[in-house]
Amino acid sequence: MAISINLTVNGQPCDIMLEDPRVTLLDMLREHLHLTGAKKGCDRGQCGACTVLVDGRRINSCLTLAVAMDGAEILTVEGIAGDAGLHPVQEAFIAHDALQCGFCTPGQIMSAIGMIMEGQAGDEPERVRECMSGNLCRCGAYLGITEAVLEAQMRVSPAVHRSVA
Ligand code: FES
Ligand code: FES
Repeated sequence: MAISINLTVNGQPCDIMLEDPRVTLLDMLREHLHLTGAKKGCDRGQCGACTVLVDGRRINSCLTLAVAMDGAEILTVEGIAGDAGLHPVQEAFIAHDALQCGFCTPGQIMSAIGMIMEGQAGDEPERVRECMSGNLCRCGAYLGITEAVLEAQMRVSPAVHRSVA
């Protein structure tokens, strides 16, 4: 049974025909829209590699049905850089060497942006680690990730992120 949905992805309106109502948001992004930034690490909500923002809130897109996204605004890692350059969280990840293989990085960055939007980041490393605990990094780049998030959250107010999302 094909189902049509309308949603906004990275600021662009999209009309999508889903041939299977069981398609996840992650598969829709990767296979229908060819936005492969969000990664399929575990496909069961355990690694956070598939994290995207839906109406400003971070979610595991592998656990979310695409049909439930009708009318939603989706922000993926492909949509966060602006005309002026990289997003401050992206810049901070580079500055702090917050990655090795990079597989988890899109999810880490989207989770960090979501956390900052939620006003939860604070200035304590332990707080950041707790709020990012759903994003695993097999390379163990947690030190750089935490430092990057702490720096980025000082540069960007939650209000700015809400306007982006
Ligand atoms: Fe979604 Fe791992 S791929 S949480
Ligand atoms: Fe390799 Fe995180 S940088 S899994």
